[in-house]
Amino acid sequence: MSDASIEAVQLWREELKLCKVGPGQTVAILAPGGDAMQDRAQGFLAAALELGADAYVVTLPGPRMELYGLGSTPLTGRPQVIELLKGADLIVDLVLLLFSKEQLELQAAGCRVLLCVEPLPILQRLLPTPELKERVLAAAADLEKAKRMHITSDAGTDVEFELGHYPILVEYGFADEPGRWDHFPGGFLATHGSDDGVNGTVVLDTGDVLLLPQMRYVEDPIGLTIENGYVTKIEGKGLDAVFMLDFLPSQDEDREAWAVSHIGWGLNREARWSMHNVPGEFGMNQRAFWGNVQFSTGPNTELGGTRETPYHLDIPMRNCSLWLDDKQVLDKGKVVVPEYA
Ligand SMILES: [Fe+2]
Repeated sequence: MSDASIEAVQLWREELKLCKVGPGQTVAILAPGGDAMQDRAQGFLAAALELGADAYVVTLPGPRMELYGLGSTPLTGRPQVIELLKGADLIVDLVLLLFSKEQLELQAAGCRVLLCVEPLPILQRLLPTPELKERVLAAAADLEKAKRMHITSDAGTDVEFELGHYPILVEYGFADEPGRWDHFPGGFLATHGSDDGVNGTVVLDTGDVLLLPQMRYVEDPIGLTIENGYVTKIEGKGLDAVFMLDFLPSQDEDREAWAVSHIGWGLNREARWSMHNVPGEFGMNQRAFWGNVQFSTGPNTELGGTRETPYHLDIPMRNCSLWLDDKQVLDKGKVVVPEYA
């Protein structure tokens, strides 16, 4: 089914309604060069116009959307386009502005930004809801208060994060407030430990997910030693450890690639860990599925830190237990707090 089909336009319209698009609003749809996103851009254009908004598409040739080289986007070096986009209330991002200075500049100007790069079949299953927003915000209120996060697993994970130095990334799947970024479909939250305040061991177990440029389910465990906010050792006898080590530059080449990045947990009850092999998928099923702990490595600029590196790994883990101070939030991969379970 095309991203500009009647069914797709209906979906984009429901998503734009959640983003508070209506008469008097201006929606800019940012599309990459080439054919890949043209149908989606036209579909969003039709949906925004149907809702009574003004809308236009900006097509920009530039770096191909991919997961290597985060931070360089088709807006890099095009200040005149950035100025144009600042006039929009909502920017639908089909080019992946994530981790870029340009995106932060647009948010600072008050633009709402909605990233939408997952294939249509995944998004049709995962249209977010106000109920998802409520649960994610309830979890964020707990995370906001916590001074410490402790994560364990039977596989051997035992790691502590000092909290309170970074804001919280709240992804409920729609951009409905000025300056807000979100990612359709969303359904998780995250923050960073303090720069030197993450210590312990993370063991990636069978079934955990390495969101490398090609998604990979871990088969053979990988042990990560973490000292003062950095992974210092990666150990494992299987192919998975080989892949991870091949992805990363050496610690001498790029120390920040080995930094611990965001940490949080998934709350999306519709997302499915096992849903894989949809062509072009970005991995939001795996990032957001209910009860996962999403560990990650690499940059922290998105939440205001200074660690810059193009090497970013999201690593959703199953069957973990998680405590915020003395309050247990997850028990072996199950959310146990009634307000957001
Ligand atoms: Fe990430």
